[in-house]
Amino acid sequence: MKTILVTGCSSGFGLETARYFLDRDWRVIATMRRPDADVLPRSDRLRVLALDVDDAASIRAAVAAAGPIDVLVNNAGFGAAAPFETLPMEAVRGMFETNTFGTMALTQAVLPQLRARGEGVVVNVTSSVTYRPVPLTAGYRASKAAVNAFTEVLAEEVAPFGVRAHLVLPGRAPETRFADSARNHSQVAGSDAYAEMVRGVFAQFAGPGPVTRARDVAEAVWRAATDPGCPLHLPAGEDALAWAGLA
Ligand SMILES: NC(=O)c1ccc[n+]([C@@H]2O[C@H](COP(=O)([O-])OP(=O)(O)OC[C@H]3O[C@@H](n4cnc5c(N)ncnc54)[C@H](OP(=O)(O)O)[C@@H]3O)[C@@H](O)[C@H]2O)c1
Repeated sequence: MKTILVTGCSSGFGLETARYFLDRDWRVIATMRRPDADVLPRSDRLRVLALDVDDAASIRAAVAAAGPIDVLVNNAGFGAAAPFETLPMEAVRGMFETNTFGTMALTQAVLPQLRARGEGVVVNVTSSVTYRPVPLTAGYRASKAAVNAFTEVLAEEVAPFGVRAHLVLPGRAPETRFADSARNHSQVAGSDAYAEMVRGVFAQFAGPGPVTRARDVAEAVWRAATDPGCPLHLPAGEDALAWAGLA
């Protein structure tokens, strides 16, 4: 029986991915900043561990407690939507800390065991905004594009050891807490010069059109985990597939 460790399982894509693998008889290590086993079905194949990817000690403790892992999913992350000129550097640093450096640090902590065993998969969840320059996403997009960039190199470096690295690139998913969380991180001392652009982009975000479901992301992670022939880049969701030129 294989074991998957997923970050950011308190809600959204991480929670759905944990459920999806539990339903398919995997051992699941669902990690959360504030562990709450009640969000997932009871199972003797489920372990819930504390993990804040911003915190090196928390990463060390979670990896030690987890034991052998076959698939690592770096899903934890957040966004902030604001014109770049008005985006506080604190918010930019925060996104890089969690989305980029958290993903890098946890990957480094798990890789030695995958390499030693000669198999394993790292799945990094980034975003379909890396396909297009969407206004108000500069800091977030940069933090995710950096993950795309390092993962593409990682895939080359670990392939000789039987280890795979993949990117799952979701589109806009209104069903998760992502938009609320982004709003909380987007308190800007704004310049009125961008007000019309901000209104337009938010209207677009809220408008009709294809979206991504959490289930699409879980399915893409499943594909990365179980299909050695799948591509490195896996857009997830109808909108993401269209942006990737695949729909
Ligand atoms: N929803 C979208 O439209 C969308 C589109 C493309 C990509 N994504 C990406 O998909 C991933 C999941 O997002 P989601 O839509 O599922 O949003 P979500 O419901 O807000 O889930 C984000 C998860 O990340 C966790 N998290 C945040 N900072 C963390 C940290 N320092 N350490 C550990 N966990 C942390 C949150 O935990 P807490 O409960 O503790 O805050 C939560 O469990 C993110 O990387 C996001 O950037 C989302």
